[in-house]
Amino acid sequence: MKKEGWSKKQIAQNYELGRPLDAELAITLFEKISEIIKTDYDNKALLDAGCGNGRVTLPISKKYPNLKIVGIDKSEEMLSILKKRIKDNNIGNYKAINSDLSKIDYDENHFDFSLISSVLHSMKNWREILGEIIRVTKRAGFLILISEAGDMYDIGLGYKKSKKRDLMEKFWTKYIELRNKHNIENARDSQVGIRWGLGHPELIANLKKEKNLDSVNDFTIKWKKTFKIRDFMKIVELKCWSSMFTVDDEKYQKIVKDLKEWIKEEKISPDAKCVSNFIVNCEVVKLR
Ligand SMILES: C[S@@+](CC[C@H](N)C(=O)[O-])C[C@H]1O[C@@H](n2cnc3c(N)ncnc32)[C@H](O)[C@@H]1O
Repeated sequence: MKKEGWSKKQIAQNYELGRPLDAELAITLFEKISEIIKTDYDNKALLDAGCGNGRVTLPISKKYPNLKIVGIDKSEEMLSILKKRIKDNNIGNYKAINSDLSKIDYDENHFDFSLISSVLHSMKNWREILGEIIRVTKRAGFLILISEAGDMYDIGLGYKKSKKRDLMEKFWTKYIELRNKHNIENARDSQVGIRWGLGHPELIANLKKEKNLDSVNDFTIKWKKTFKIRDFMKIVELKCWSSMFTVDDEKYQKIVKDLKEWIKEEKISPDAKCVSNFIVNCEVVKLR
């Protein structure tokens, strides 16, 4: 049997490391959504479809104790982290369910909100999953679609060639160079579903075509985040991005080795600081 080149447990534990959206930003997002759609979250139900370890909705459950949250994810590893966090924080309004989104065990028109964050780009059957999410969401309820972009993703996923102006750009350019050197597939090829990027144009077009869309509001939040070179190395070593964990491990370890050597040769301190710009986009879709 082919050895899996990555540990699901390791990814679940370090998931936040490779992703900039944090608790504070999640709360800002939900405050903005509430302003836009002119509603509060009291006694409402929210589905987090593919909730992972609860990165986005766990902070929301603390902030809005009267919002009933259901997180569904097929990864046992992600859910065991989430369940531990729910227990440790004594949270009473979050139910974490280990299940596949292609068959959601709820009646039609159940949820007031369904949140989709960084999920559909890894799913070939995203249309089927979207249909199932819409089925359990109320008519006149809302889909909350979250997408993140940032300079380090743009370079580290090979979307943008950088001018290597600073250390952040140099590091991720080197990483892509090493992927090419070791004949590793293009980082973007790991995305088998919706294209990773800002916004969900394909999804919105699908909702329009299926006549499920009433209206869309969207907004963005921009911020900067500082990382150390050792954080970038951890993202790479722990294979935090999906474009990393799908790579054959033997080949992948060559990148890790070469990157470490490059850091030594260039005399870069592991504590050297790098800044990346980020942007999160939120589309609030009213269903009909
Ligand atoms: C990139 S993570 C995003 C997690 C979370 N939404 C966030 O933004 O932090 C994608 C998650 O979708 C889950 N997932 C992928 N396909 C799924 C499916 N068919 N059913 C349930 N969960 C799924 C994965 O297990 C993983 O935890």
